[in-house]
Amino acid sequence: MLIAVGIGAAAAAGLVDGSRTHEQQQRVGLVHAACNTVAVGLYSASLTARLGNRPLRGRMSAPAGLAAVGAGGLLGGHLAYRQAAAFDAAAIAAFNTLTLLAAHPGLADRARDEQVYRDAEDPRGIAEADHLRACVQESLRLWPTAPAILRDSTRDDPLAPEGAAVAVISSFFHRDAQTLDFADRSTPDAWPDGRAEPARGIVPFSAGPAACPGRNLVLFTVTALLDTVLRRTTDLDLADPVLPDPSRPLPHTWNHTAVRLLTA
Ligand code: HEM
Repeated sequence: MLIAVGIGAAAAAGLVDGSRTHEQQQRVGLVHAACNTVAVGLYSASLTARLGNRPLRGRMSAPAGLAAVGAGGLLGGHLAYRQAAAFDAAAIAAFNTLTLLAAHPGLADRARDEQVYRDAEDPRGIAEADHLRACVQESLRLWPTAPAILRDSTRDDPLAPEGAAVAVISSFFHRDAQTLDFADRSTPDAWPDGRAEPARGIVPFSAGPAACPGRNLVLFTVTALLDTVLRRTTDLDLADPVLPDPSRPLPHTWNHTAVRLLTA
């Protein structure tokens, strides 16, 4: 039963990943999925044969299944390590922020104003790109790439007894209209002025001793990337209106892979 659940979950994860890859990766992904499906079929045939008292047939199907799963694994490795098809939260954050800047030009204008005071050639200046970095943080509040944080309760608590598994749905707190008057509106200023704080459950990188150790690296590299894009363009626009204008609430989710940006 557990194996069946595992296979189902792996297939679902593969389908989700596959929907966000480009054509070349999708072709490799299709063969990867086919190899794994054949492997499941061969191992099932082996099990059925052994249970049906046909051990020879069972013994023949199993190595064929191993060969198929090996080929599938090889292609899976190629997808992840050579074709970089794995889930990359920082890339998603960069793309979401870029789309936000294009949909709400006031944010991009402020980020460009900030550039005037910084030396484009000096990477240390990125630490002073306060507004642009806040835009990245804001995109992670609006569309967190880690929508839940998991913990085990280590002591008895009225909410969870010792040993209970706890899922903190941080994506809910990020948009909680009862505690935030900016819940569904892009408000980068909430980061420097402290309104977007862990005490209100705004934790795109988590918080406490297990917080994401990659957060400073992510904020630095994504801000630096967007800074370069803004320096090399005078205008950013969306080919399709995937996000509403600043006067309207932002959607909780959207297909960021379908975005087409127009630059000048
Ligand atoms: C937008 C990008 C990213 C986001 C939003 C993000 C967010 C998170 C979150 C929410 C956690 C869970 C922490 C917890 O359980 O409390 C986590 C864990 C972790 N992240 Fe990230 N992360 C990002 C990118 C990265 C990168 C680029 C690296 C490595 C260079 C990284 C390394 C880690 C590691 C090692 C952990 C496990 C920490 C532990 O269990 O102690 N993350 N991240």
